[in-house]
Amino acid sequence: MSNMHVGMNVTLTKPFILRCFIISLFLSLPFFLFLFRHLFSPQQHHRHVSIAATATTTNNNNSNLRIRPGYSSYDAYIQRQLNKTLNPRLRKIWTTRDWNRKIPVFARFFEELKEKKLLDKNSKALCIGARVGQEVEALRRVGVWDSVGMDLVPYPPLVVKGDFHNQPFENGTFDFEFSNVFDHALYPERFVAEIERTLKPNGVCVLHVALSRRADKFSANDLYSVEPLVALFKNSALVHVRDVDGFGLDTEVAFRKNTLR
Ligand SMILES: C[S@@+](CC[C@H](N)C(=O)[O-])C[C@H]1O[C@@H](n2cnc3c(N)ncnc32)[C@H](O)[C@@H]1O
Ligand SMILES: *[C@@H]1O[C@H](CO)[C@@H](O)[C@H](O)[C@H]1NC(C)=O
Ligand SMILES: *[C@@H]1O[C@H](CO)[C@@H](O)[C@H](O)[C@H]1NC(C)=O
Ligand SMILES: *[C@@H]1O[C@H](CO)[C@@H](O)[C@H](O)[C@H]1NC(C)=O
Repeated sequence: MSNMHVGMNVTLTKPFILRCFIISLFLSLPFFLFLFRHLFSPQQHHRHVSIAATATTTNNNNSNLRIRPGYSSYDAYIQRQLNKTLNPRLRKIWTTRDWNRKIPVFARFFEELKEKKLLDKNSKALCIGARVGQEVEALRRVGVWDSVGMDLVPYPPLVVKGDFHNQPFENGTFDFEFSNVFDHALYPERFVAEIERTLKPNGVCVLHVALSRRADKFSANDLYSVEPLVALFKNSALVHVRDVDGFGLDTEVAFRKNTLR
């Protein structure tokens, strides 16, 4: 008896419910279209493009710092960097033949920075994009013992793993940061902001960059003058610009982070 009653109820209300459902579907169609567009658009890509856009627009007229097009995603960029850095044949060369060839050159640069009082034996130092750590070894040889390198690929004990767009260090950690890989930054604004974040007040950053020639095919940007760098170091003062001969990089740019107001 009760079974039949329920059954009758269902058959009576089914078309009504169905009609309500279809009408509500129609009414919410714009909402679903909106949702669909947002869920399936490449968010990651958008975010990066907008960071890159800010990075270039805050620079001196866009023309002296150009982000290279052609990276489909952040991961594609990282994979490209790793492809070279992980190459076993090259790693062998970097840790053997190149080792003794490059360390004295780096050591000379660091000695000069010590003479200019930009680096000190007691400085806590970081080398960004240090690969197998020749520059870290050079720092230690000139007496800067508390020094470490960072790269996508670690090389213990000299080099720890980290992405320079998101340094694995606390704010205000270092007295000195050196890098000759600015041209590998897909987001130069982030590269510099991370340096300023992890430097102590009064900390020094020294970059070796290529101004007069195009950097290598693993570069992510091209820099044509020092002005874009000066614009990116929002919380630092330019200390000096000088010519150097550093493994294809021709210009040394030094900054000192401002003291906190
Ligand atoms: C041209 S090599 C420089 C190596 C080293 N500084 C030297 O002079 O021998 C560039 C290095 O930057 C590293 N690199 C590229 N993109 C990076 C990123 N997003 N974060 C950290 N390191 C990165 C690469 O893995 C590579 O070891
Ligand atoms: C940017 O620089 C180029 C050449 O250096 C110049 O022709 C152009 O007028 C500049 N644009 C702005 C907005 O300053
Ligand atoms: C990685 O490098 C090898 C040669 O070392 C090359 O054949 C390959 O195409 C590269 N892959 C990418 C994704 O760049
Ligand atoms: C670290 O520095 C960044 C950038 O200067 C700032 O936004 C953040 O609040 C700081 N974090 C801490 C824990 O102080």
